[in-house]
Amino acid sequence: MTGKVAIVTGAGSGIGRATALLFAREGARVLAVDVDGDAARRTEQDAEGSVIAAQVDVSDESAVIDMLDRCDRELGSVSLLANIAGVGATTSAPDTSLEVWEKVFAVNARGTFLCCKHAIPRMAAAGGGSIVNMASVAGLVGLRNRAAYCASKGAVIALTRALALDHVADRVRVNCVCPGTVDSPWVRRLLDEVGESLDALVARQPMGRLGTAEEIAAAVHYLASDAAAFMTGSALVLDGGLTAG
Ligand SMILES: NC(=O)c1ccc[n+]([C@@H]2O[C@H](COP(=O)([O-])OP(=O)(O)OC[C@H]3O[C@@H](n4cnc5c(N)ncnc54)[C@H](O)[C@@H]3O)[C@@H](O)[C@H]2O)c1
Repeated sequence: MTGKVAIVTGAGSGIGRATALLFAREGARVLAVDVDGDAARRTEQDAEGSVIAAQVDVSDESAVIDMLDRCDRELGSVSLLANIAGVGATTSAPDTSLEVWEKVFAVNARGTFLCCKHAIPRMAAAGGGSIVNMASVAGLVGLRNRAAYCASKGAVIALTRALALDHVADRVRVNCVCPGTVDSPWVRRLLDEVGESLDALVARQPMGRLGTAEEIAAAVHYLASDAAAFMTGSALVLDGGLTAG
């Protein structure tokens, strides 16, 4: 990734942070984007490499355009984009307010769409690029009490496939990653919210452990890199066997 310019969203925490740190270690110049500006700045401080923090809400179209303009000015033309920002919801459809539904779609689906919409023409003009979207096994199989989240991640997978076909000729590859349960600040918050213990969650995993943010970041890195030059429109599952049965 030496010399390449990357934008990583959700870079203040968990999988996004691990991805921004890995991309920087691998030589990319990284714009570490998060709605939580302090968290993004911590990623910048902790990086062994070139990382600039940016406070951006990916669901806000003008903020996304400003983000890409800033990337052009301060780092150069983006050729790698990892859309990792996301939010969850832990309810069945009848218990999901319209506000929660729209918030989940605003970040997970609209945010991914907006970053792709505005990055792709710039990538195409510069000769191509690679986009990795963060889906989830929740977009492949139903999970109980996750109606809005499952639907939003299904949208990310479908969007990924549509973009992959539309932009083959632009030399822009678009893939997504479908993690199972990954130990991150998010999952710790979720356990508190639903009143489940970490031990019970771990016991449900075929491998008897959760994934790590670094394992998912490695898959994002692979898909973003030239090692995956023949991959576009793929949904790569990393779930410790959760959906194998
Ligand atoms: N942790 C898991 O088990 C798991 C499994 C499958 C998929 N995922 C997906 O991976 C991604 C990251 O999850 P994580 O576990 O690292 O979560 P996390 O909560 O630790 O990190 C998510 C980051 O996204 C940021 N963010 C939220 N809304 C934003 C917005 N509007 N604009 C910009 N940034 C925003 C948050 O501030 C946070 O820093 C999410 O898309 C999530 O759906 C996580």
